[in-house]
Amino acid sequence: MTPPLSIWHPFTQEALDPSPLRIERAEGVYLYISGGRPLLDAISSWWVNLHGHSHPAIAAAIAEQARTLEHVIFAGFTHGPAEELAERLRRVLPAQLERIFFSDDGSTAVEVALKMALQFWGNGGRPEKKRIVALDHAYHGDTAGAMSVGADSSFVAAFGELRFPVLRVPSAYCYRCPVGKRRETCDIDCVEPLARLLEERHNEIAAVIVEPLLQGAGGMIVHPVEFLQRIRKLCTQHGVLLIADEVLTGFGRTGKMFACDVAGIVPDILCLSKGLTGGFLPMAATVCTGAIYEAFRAPDRSRTFFHGHSYTANPLGCAAAIASLRIFESEPVFERIANIERVHRERAKPLRDHPAVGDVRILGTMMALELEADDPGYFSDWRPRLYEFFLEKGVLLRPLGNVIYVLPPYAITTEELHRVYDAIAEALEKVPPPKR
Ligand SMILES: Cc1ncc(COP(=O)(O)O)c(C=O)c1O
Repeated sequence: MTPPLSIWHPFTQEALDPSPLRIERAEGVYLYISGGRPLLDAISSWWVNLHGHSHPAIAAAIAEQARTLEHVIFAGFTHGPAEELAERLRRVLPAQLERIFFSDDGSTAVEVALKMALQFWGNGGRPEKKRIVALDHAYHGDTAGAMSVGADSSFVAAFGELRFPVLRVPSAYCYRCPVGKRRETCDIDCVEPLARLLEERHNEIAAVIVEPLLQGAGGMIVHPVEFLQRIRKLCTQHGVLLIADEVLTGFGRTGKMFACDVAGIVPDILCLSKGLTGGFLPMAATVCTGAIYEAFRAPDRSRTFFHGHSYTANPLGCAAAIASLRIFESEPVFERIANIERVHRERAKPLRDHPAVGDVRILGTMMALELEADDPGYFSDWRPRLYEFFLEKGVLLRPLGNVIYVLPPYAITTEELHRVYDAIAEALEKVPPPKR
């Protein structure tokens, strides 16, 4: 008999991890496990969901689009949903970002940005500007280029041969300050290594890539706004492009539409995905300045940006994204976002004093608690026991090692968010710390 075709799940050690839970349906902030038990999704299903699961307006937009035009090759063709999405993003993005290039997910948005940056300099007669600068603790995705700019970690240890060399500089991780300062008295000294690097080697550097204000998978590290502002200034001063990977931070997560808006800066290239479609369909966009685009537009075909994917600008994805952006106008989304931040501040305050808690970080809809651990990082022993505890409480929280974080869909109510915090407070009392 032919064996069944079994499924291999992402980031899962199947020899150790419990079997996956089977989800039958989802609505609002709840995932319904087969058998009916609801699970409160406090991490927006890997940070993608914005307005709640199965939001009827997005579901209807996809269904209607599927009956009209499900897909068409995007080279040599265009369509209404892509044009309308570009027009709607235009209204929320800084005016300097004039061109949008569609792709499929966060990793491909980053690959596009890196390739765009390199070829921009090559097309402009500066092929020697080909190095990329990235931050410690960065995460930009799992494809080869995205892994290269991501931090060195166990996640990429097996793929050294695939990763291109990157110039690495410190991240403003204030709780574990890389230059031994204290935030209250420092002058963002951690940006100095970048300042020196750009001063000395700007002639060979194409771009600096950052997750603006919030490094997600690296442990929900919140940067001071001044760190990002200083990076922007340094890039401008030294003629180096700034790539802002807003795959996680885009679409309201940080309290404003984009993290760059919070810092009042404009990058040269911006990467979007995750919340772009409200969490319904995989889709991404890389948006760039007019000056970058112009370097590719020429009678010489060798200057073409040779990149594309089969599903580029898929009309269903575009329809979902348009519907999600409409919800920002038809529902009080930014009030919900502000309310989430208010509850984060109220409930996280007493947790700060808990002996197991080392640091509390809040930015917009994100709250993170870094727990004291001898084994900080993704493989901390805190993770599996906390994860199981939260599941038993009916809450989906997926700590990043010793960092518990809450990043809920904006549709979460105050009561539901309190429930999440009740589960966290109980976990801090009941889940024993890993053995020292
Ligand atoms: C900042 C950032 N960039 C890129 C990615 C990769 O996105 P995807 O998983 O859609 O490839 C992620 C995913 O978590 C991310 O947080």
